[in-house]
Order: sequence, then C-alpha cells, then structure tokens
Amino acid sequence: MELTVVILAAGQSKRMNTALSKVLHPLAGTSLLERVIKTAQSLNPKDIYVVYGNGDQVKESLQHYPIKWIKQEKQLGTGHAVLQALPSIDDQQRVLILYGDVPLISKETLTKLIHDAPQNSLGILIVNRVNPFGYGRIIKDNQNNIIAIVEQKDATTEQLKITQINTGFLTASAKQLKKWLSKIKNDNAQQEYYLTDIVTLAAKEQCPIVGINANSEIEVQGINDRIELAKVERYCQMQIAQQLMLSGVTIVDPARLDVRGEIKTGRDILIDINVVLEGNIQIDDNSMIGSNVYLKNVKIGKNVIIKPNCVIEDAVINDGCQIGPFARIRPGTQLAKNVHIGNFVELKNSQVDENTKASHLSYLGDAIIGKNVNIGCGTITCNYDGANKYQTIIKDGAFIGSDSQLIAPITIGENAYIGSGSTVAKDAPAGKLTIARAKQVTIENWKPPKKDKKE
Ligand code: UD1
Ligand code: CA
Repeated sequence: MELTVVILAAGQSKRMNTALSKVLHPLAGTSLLERVIKTAQSLNPKDIYVVYGNGDQVKESLQHYPIKWIKQEKQLGTGHAVLQALPSIDDQQRVLILYGDVPLISKETLTKLIHDAPQNSLGILIVNRVNPFGYGRIIKDNQNNIIAIVEQKDATTEQLKITQINTGFLTASAKQLKKWLSKIKNDNAQQEYYLTDIVTLAAKEQCPIVGINANSEIEVQGINDRIELAKVERYCQMQIAQQLMLSGVTIVDPARLDVRGEIKTGRDILIDINVVLEGNIQIDDNSMIGSNVYLKNVKIGKNVIIKPNCVIEDAVINDGCQIGPFARIRPGTQLAKNVHIGNFVELKNSQVDENTKASHLSYLGDAIIGKNVNIGCGTITCNYDGANKYQTIIKDGAFIGSDSQLIAPITIGENAYIGSGSTVAKDAPAGKLTIARAKQVTIENWKPPKKDKKE
C-alpha cells in the first residue's frame, strides 16, 4: 500500500496563549511544524496533507513545501481534523497521522510503526510515561488487547493511574479511517470529535489493534504550553552541543550555547559561554568564539579569533582574522585573511582585503578597502546623504589618520596618507599626504579672560 501522511496542525493553542499559531513557534530555530514536515518527507510518502486552521498564517509561512493544504474551519477536535483531509485521499492509501505539536518524532520510530503494524490493522504508537498527565491513556482488556483510549479529562481515577499513553501517532487504511470517523461523536468532556475514539470502533469490529512502542519519551513529547517548549528546547540544545563536542569543538559550558540553525565545524574550535549561533554557520579549524557573541549566517575561516561581545550577521570572515571585543559586523561584509577589526568598529556591506586594520571606533559602510590599509581611530565613511548611499574606495597601503571623515562617493589612492582630523570630500591621490582641516594658529600676546569687577 502507498503511504499518505496527514499532519494535524489546526489546534487553537489555548494552553500556549499565543497569537502566533503554536506549531509555528521555533524549536532550535526551526518551527515545530516544519520539523514534522521534514520528518514526513524523509518517509517518501505519496502525499503530505497538513490540516491547518485559524487564519492562513501556517499555510503562508510554509508555502515552499510541496504540501496539500486542508483548512479546518472550526476546531472541533482531532477526529474532525482528520475527516477534513480524508475525502481527498484514495481508499487504498495507507494513512499515517502525525501531530504538528510533537516535533521530535524520529524517522526510525515512524518506520517501525508502519512496518510492524500489519496493513489491515490499526497501528498506534504508544509509550510509558513516568508522568502521564495530559495524555490519552491506553485501555486494555484482560487479554492485554487494546480496546480504547481515554483522554485525561474523561478518565476515571483508576484510568488516570495508567502510565501507558497514546502518543497521537497512528496508522490505518484510508478506507477504514473513513468508515470509523464517520461514526464518532462529541459526547465527551471537551465536546470534541476525538480521533482516539476510533480505537473503540476498531475493537468492536475485531480489527487488529497493534500498539508499537516509541523509542523514547522525548521523541513523543507534545508541546502544549511554553513550559514544555522551553523544556524541549533545552533538550535539543544539549543534543546539538554534545554532537559538536564529539566532533572536536570545546564548549566551555554546553548549557550556555544556543544553536538555532545549521552549523558546520572543523576541529579544535573553542566556544566560550553565552554564545548564540543562528541560521547557517560555518567555523573552520582552530578558531575561537569569545563569550557573549551573536553570529547569524556567518562563515568563519581557520585560526580566527572573535573576542567577547561581538555581533556579526551575514558576513564572511577569512583565515586569521581578529575581531572585537565589541565589534559589530553587519550584512554584506567580507573580510579577507588576517584583517583586524577592533573595539567599537561597525562595518556594513564592506569588503576588506588582507592585513588591513581598523582597530578602534570606526564606521565603515559601503566601502571597498584594499590590502595593508590602516584605518585610524574614529574614521567614518559618510555613505549616506539622506536620500542615497554611496561607495568609498580605499586602495592598498593607504593610511587614514584618526578622526577622519571620508565623504562618499570617494576614492583614496594607493599608499595615500590622510592627515588626522580631515574631512575629505574629494578623491585623494595615490602616494601623497592629503590633509583637510583648518590650519592651526597660535595667538601671541593672548591674555586669559578676567572676571568683571563689581561696582
Ligand atoms: C492528543 C490526543 C491524546 C494524546 C496527545 C499526544 C486526541 C483526542 N487526544 O491530545 O490522546 O495523548 O494528543 O500528544 O486526539 N488539532 C487539529 N484540529 C483540532 C484539534 C487539534 O488540527 O480540532 C491538532 C493540534 O494542532 C495538534 C494535534 O491536533 O497538533 C493534537 O491536538 P491537541 O489539542 O494538542 O491534543 P491533546 O490534548 O494533546
Ligand atoms: Ca498536544
């Protein structure tokens, strides 16, 4: 039988107390639903349906996936949600139901569920939980056959003691699901159409019901509120940190590193405390990331030192560079080998060639800076006239004296020397000293002012 996956993602997220749909909240940088979609894709199904509700937020944010979107206008329960997708699914399909709020489910466990539950059966993924609170309990007869699932809110005191719970994941043929779901009612504590009620119907028909055990509690952990979200986030972060450590990265405190995206690393890298790595990050051998550093979409070469308290986004930092402390590197910046960027230096959309230094208090925006250039303390590229942005070109070997303003568009020639405190508005020729400040004068016979005498 061919496989069709249905992901339920229309719930109202009441316990999350959120305007953003619960399934769009990020977990280690990827939304809960996107994680489930990726896992579903790894099973190579014929189709993936996502049942969504509450506006078009969910659909719009994941448009780029090849998904068949089904809107559930009213959130009348998980059974009702599956019913919305079923008319589009051929009777001969094997349907696998996933939940958009259970993000860590593994491909291996789902494959086991599909393989171990025969095609004519109802296969349910179950698990034992030390604390089963909130989950549907698995009810068995005295021959150990599953005969029902009872929700937390409908369970008797005796049933609440059961620790074997419904993970929510199940599989059956589309034909059987259509038959069972057309019969379920909403006469329960929540007045919802429960998907779990199909178990009782299947048992009555003597359809085989197979309970397959999940590999771990965490992979079937549902996220219903922000406390659970934080707990699962910490779990994911620790997994990522452990993988990095095994691959040759020293992490000073794995509890104080957050990775929210994809990371590629070489060996003998050191990551100090309170580092956040977002988007696509690459760090090559022997590089060091100091404490309190935020990096987003950054490629870092070998032997790079990022000193504490730097913020770097959408940038490329080549081998041997030294950055910070307190440097800000904004999108579109590329640093060639051995560039030094010191404290309180801001770069934006700039290219800096080998061995150039900007050690203190500068703004370098929309600039192309050559090799072996020295940018003095307090240099500013004046790149914006209030309407448009202009480029500054500084050629190899130039020396920009401290506290200079370079009014773009402007070119500073090779080995040009700009005197300190200059406001340079015209191109500066190569190999010469250009100085643009008022001449210094000293007044001879000058006397300090005296206080007026009172009469
Ligand atoms: C559900 C199960 C429970 C199981 C638990 C596992 C039912 C009745 N209960 O409970 O047995 O232990 O999951 O995590 O199925 N959804 C819709 N439309 C709706 C209602 C829900 O699409 O009308 C979606 C939600 O977005 C969510 C999923 O279905 O992704 C589960 O809904 P939720 O309300 O979280 O169910 P639980 O109470 O957790
Ligand atoms: Ca849930």
